[in-house]
Amino acid sequence: IKPISLTTLQEMKKNGEKIAMLTCYDASFSALLDSHHVDCLLVGDSLGNVIQGQRTTLPVSMSDMVYHTKAVLRGLYTRPTSRAWVVADLPFGSYGSIEDALHNAVKLMQAGAHMIKLEGGAWLADTVRVLVQNGIPVCAHLGLTPQSVYQLGGFKVQAKTEEAAAQLLKEALILQEAGASMLVLEAVPMHVGKNVTEHVSMVTIGIGAGKDTDGQVLVLYDMLDVFPGKKAKFVKNFMAGQSSISGAIDAYVAEVKNGDFPQPEHSFTGT
Ligand code: KIV
Ligand code: NA
Repeated sequence: IKPISLTTLQEMKKNGEKIAMLTCYDASFSALLDSHHVDCLLVGDSLGNVIQGQRTTLPVSMSDMVYHTKAVLRGLYTRPTSRAWVVADLPFGSYGSIEDALHNAVKLMQAGAHMIKLEGGAWLADTVRVLVQNGIPVCAHLGLTPQSVYQLGGFKVQAKTEEAAAQLLKEALILQEAGASMLVLEAVPMHVGKNVTEHVSMVTIGIGAGKDTDGQVLVLYDMLDVFPGKKAKFVKNFMAGQSSISGAIDAYVAEVKNGDFPQPEHSFTGT
């Protein structure tokens, strides 16, 4: 079994093999998800919501992210043949300057992450360039960017107008030119997810971005139906009809791979 690399992910995009990603915050789940062929694990700052019980991701600190990233990697190290690609989020306030971004991304890489993710558009191009020059693969995140929830006026679908959709593609191309190799698209109309995916060489991962992105991601505690809070339209409960967590994870991977997830009911239209 070959560990997943950026090259593997690029090949999967090229071959139309869908990429299955889930969030992961601890060692037990990382070993389990890896053994069930989840391709990518995201140590997301959604841990603020689902682990810490915060209302938003804003209170999540660098030391929280390092703690959970280390735990996820230790889970993989228990498996001699682990293959999952691990992405870790730079939390709110940790990449306001290029110096901070580099310093904090290095901490996440030294905790074992394979790639870091940051939220935002063209204004991060110089930051992305410096990280990549320092050997740090970068995943961008556009659309609904939860760290900007107060600036956005709530957790709302983004890029709904033609102008906003064109702007999103423009920003994606600028981040790609700066060196980003993956792009998370969150809560955008499905035609936007499709159009961006067709126009970028970055690997696109959708969450509420329709079925046409190169891969899909969900928050683990949402798809296992253990999060008690309000669930977004793009969430599917994969425990339904399953008798075990393993069964739910297998169902998720299978439905992402064969294109059964997401359905239109989990997606947004332009209006
Ligand atoms: O933190 C997270 O879980 C994320 C995904 C929702 C993409 O950033
Ligand atoms: Na996140």
